[in-house]
Amino acid sequence: MVPVVDPSSFCSLTKCITKHLNLTFRVDFESHVIKGKVALTIEVLEDKLSSLTLDTKDLKIFHVRANGQEATFALGTQHRFKGTPLVITLPFALSRGQHVIVEVAYETSPKASALQWLRPQQTAGKKQPYLFSQCQATHCRTMVPCQDTPSVKHTYYAQVSVPRELVALMSAVRDGQDPDPEDSNRTVYRFRQTVPMPSYLIALVVGALENREIGPRSRVWSEKELVDQAAYEFAETEAMLKAAEQLAGPYVWGQYDVLVLPPSFPYGGMENPCLTFATPTLLAGDRSLSNVIAHEISHSWTGNLVTNKTWEHFWLNEGHTVYLERMIGRSLEPEGEQFRQFKAIGGWKELQESVKTFGEKNVLTNLVPDLQEVDTDEAFSSVPYEKGFALLYHLEELLGGPEVFMGFVKSYIQLFAYGSVTTEEWKSYLFTYFKDKVDMLNKVDWTGWMNTPGMPPVTTQYDTTLADACIALCKRWVQAKEAGLAGFTEADIKPLSSHQRIEFLALLLQEKPLPLSHVKRMEEVYSLNSVKNAEIRFRWLRVCVRAKWEESVPLALGMATEQGRMKFTRPLFRRVISADKVPDLAVSTFLQHRGGMHPVTSTLVAKDLQVQQDQTTGF
Ligand code: BES
Ligand code: ZN
Repeated sequence: MVPVVDPSSFCSLTKCITKHLNLTFRVDFESHVIKGKVALTIEVLEDKLSSLTLDTKDLKIFHVRANGQEATFALGTQHRFKGTPLVITLPFALSRGQHVIVEVAYETSPKASALQWLRPQQTAGKKQPYLFSQCQATHCRTMVPCQDTPSVKHTYYAQVSVPRELVALMSAVRDGQDPDPEDSNRTVYRFRQTVPMPSYLIALVVGALENREIGPRSRVWSEKELVDQAAYEFAETEAMLKAAEQLAGPYVWGQYDVLVLPPSFPYGGMENPCLTFATPTLLAGDRSLSNVIAHEISHSWTGNLVTNKTWEHFWLNEGHTVYLERMIGRSLEPEGEQFRQFKAIGGWKELQESVKTFGEKNVLTNLVPDLQEVDTDEAFSSVPYEKGFALLYHLEELLGGPEVFMGFVKSYIQLFAYGSVTTEEWKSYLFTYFKDKVDMLNKVDWTGWMNTPGMPPVTTQYDTTLADACIALCKRWVQAKEAGLAGFTEADIKPLSSHQRIEFLALLLQEKPLPLSHVKRMEEVYSLNSVKNAEIRFRWLRVCVRAKWEESVPLALGMATEQGRMKFTRPLFRRVISADKVPDLAVSTFLQHRGGMHPVTSTLVAKDLQVQQDQTTGF
């Protein structure tokens, strides 16, 4: 087998691999720094090993020891997004099969891209500061010097010292807490992760957190202001876990908790083991956005147990996870299969949007893109999710339907559990599993699906039962003449579920912009400006901005800044700038808010708006 090279990491994966991390953190809210110590248990893969390289980014390194002996080290040249290699020279040579414990003492930078430090004012309680991490894809190296590649899996143990008013949680099982022996104003929290996992799943949160039990293996955590709302919103968690176990096999991580973060959390959800991180924009009040939890639960199998070997194979994580997420919906929703088909229609639209945004010839729209010298954050889009899902659904149809194809997915999970895989390995197992249907598999346009930009080579026809009402209402608005606007009433959308309202607005966004008179009438009869559901609001505000309704510009920029989920914030800034008569407003709003934004969000919005990266203030 050709050894895999991870273009996002400096580590040589044929020399040695990490088996375990022992982490000690001291979280300092005054200086926005974590003082850290990590002991890496490393297995040697080749003879005469006398040096090794770890990934770091913006870290200060104090000392390195190998099996207790002082080791020399040097930081190499800094790379634009990969960071800086830490080259360690061992005081002895090792041979294949041996283990070595490498200890690094270090400090993070206040601008570490994995971390957001919030002032009390930025939290719901307004009294205590807050810290959270987001390591996927390549940010762990700003928090821990390590082999920051999903091709390496290890367990971890951690001890975290925080001010005693605060609670620390990690992506692991809680292992108790004690007063910090070194500082009576602090508490040390301990954690253990006994399932081997990649570095991007290391996660930490520190804040004034409370919890509620929502199931036999689940709690929700958040500031007290949101905890009851969160417990209501995510009450289906245990049912989803059970459905997922039915589909994919036993849940091996022990606990499954959900943490609701402050609004600046840049993603909808993040599958940190034992503790999914979630945006507060999921709190719709009616559980209508709980598919994000089904999605993160699904990652417990596809992503966390079976992991993409490099970020070029990210679709293996996300495509299979979307597939499982929709299978969970299929088994829990009353309209089962029709609901899955309806969600697939929505997903296809997301894919069309991404292809349009990137350009249909852009190689980043390949299912398996080449990420040599590409920052994974900049490559991120719906493509791995929805082109990935579309491929799996296409194969499902070809090979005998959902039950048959789920059999393959379950078997793939069993075979590759605790490992990391490439697309080639996935495909080769597909051909093995369906050895009686190889003729059919050979007819698939693999190059078209995997290595060609733009929309997939096959367009799937999904069942439109649940989409028909949305399609009809969209058509009425598109075809309406000004004189006919009186014919629209509140009753038009009354029968539509939240999901269908989202789809209705998504359909409008694929049409030519509506005349201003139409959107004004739409607001009059549907009162969409007062809708809190973030998915509905996001699409509605874009409908308004496209219609050049000036009053909607501050509302759109309001949503872009009041929460920081990149899926909403980036397009809201981008669309306002392309539609507004005074594009400066988007830029000045961004410059005003960037100080309080998440480091990754602020970097990407700056790039979207073509604002200089080193421009630090709006004044
Ligand atoms: N793992 C992703 C989030 C992620 C991807 C973070 C890449 C950093 C880099 C998570 O599972 C995810 O896909 N979240 C989606 C959920 C949606 C598809 C249901 C989101 O954030 O919207
Ligand atoms: Zn995901």
